[in-house]
Amino acid sequence: MRLVRLRAPGGLGNLDLVEEDTPQPGPGEVLVRIRACALNMRDDFAVQGKTPFVDGRVPLSDGAGEVIALGDGVDALKPGDSVVSVFYPWWLGGDMTPCTRRDIPGDSFDGFASEYVCMPAHAFTRAPAGYTHVEAASLTCTGVTAWRSLVVCGKVKPGDAVLVLGSGSVSLFALQFAKAAGARVIATSSDEQKLERLKRLGADAIINYKSVPDWGRKARDLTDGRGVDHVIEVGGPATLAQSIAASRTGGHIALVGVLTGFAAEVSIPALFSNQIRISGISIGSRVDQEDMIRAIESNRLKPVIDRHFPLQDIATAFAHYETQKHFGKVCLEV
Ligand SMILES: NC(=O)c1ccc[n+]([C@@H]2O[C@H](COP(=O)([O-])OP(=O)(O)OC[C@H]3O[C@@H](n4cnc5c(N)ncnc54)[C@H](OP(=O)(O)O)[C@@H]3O)[C@@H](O)[C@H]2O)c1
Repeated sequence: MRLVRLRAPGGLGNLDLVEEDTPQPGPGEVLVRIRACALNMRDDFAVQGKTPFVDGRVPLSDGAGEVIALGDGVDALKPGDSVVSVFYPWWLGGDMTPCTRRDIPGDSFDGFASEYVCMPAHAFTRAPAGYTHVEAASLTCTGVTAWRSLVVCGKVKPGDAVLVLGSGSVSLFALQFAKAAGARVIATSSDEQKLERLKRLGADAIINYKSVPDWGRKARDLTDGRGVDHVIEVGGPATLAQSIAASRTGGHIALVGVLTGFAAEVSIPALFSNQIRISGISIGSRVDQEDMIRAIESNRLKPVIDRHFPLQDIATAFAHYETQKHFGKVCLEV
């Protein structure tokens, strides 16, 4: 089989396409022919050598494909099933614990930039009916994050106002889940063409966060001064104050992303005096993914895919991702 290994010290020039023997499934494992992978910011950090990794690690946390063979004791899947990976293979449901957050593919063990993988059967769920492998691969990290932010922690309900920041993949999924839940969506972007696309995806109101620096106040105005019920906070230090300004009293901020950095100064009184609830989000559990897939099927949702590249062009795919010109998921076909 062909696969990609990331050599130390990282960098796009150190993504090596190699050939190795195809693994065989042990007890409790499945052999999956991976057909597609998706790229995420955390993969990009790893590939750039910005986060520690083991020399020779197979990158990418998100993969989808077809079950080829079962190890002893696997009865939940069968050969031919279309499956998609889960981000935390040991976080099956309920609250995350130190034990269930261990072992992330592409990080603590080999990931999905590979034609075949052998993993425990619970490292996959079935893919949504009618999805291509590329569409399925887009769900693992950013889809489940948006789902947990809005539905599991946010408990979004019809009539809620949801603010999504920028047109990244988490925000696009959050927009779609919010509309499916009957919420009203305010979306922001730095790019006028992307704002038009956000409208076509169902955004009820749009704001250019570059030309409207106090976009938090603007979002509040768009709710007749009440403030939004949920913010999907993907920006971090440069956006958090505006997200707080946009929130209603008792509103919910899902703290998700670090697009503008890792450390922020926060007005603590602005949070407690407005009784704002903050949820720290780290993707979600296997049960969250299964629930999301049921919602995707009953609402006939399709993810936004920007482009996909062949496996051997993984470095070009990351270079494209790093331009931040994408709208939707950047994927690989394997
Ligand atoms: N905690 C978790 O579980 C979790 C899971 C997944 C991702 N994340 C994090 O969430 C963030 C978003 O991930 P993603 O996959 O959606 O990223 P992505 O698809 O790469 O998003 C890139 C987009 O982010 C937008 N952006 C950049 N700077 C911005 C700013 N100052 N304000 C608002 N939007 C801005 C831009 O949108 P425009 O071009 O429209 O301006 C850009 O195109 C990343 O930091 C990622 O690491 C966290």
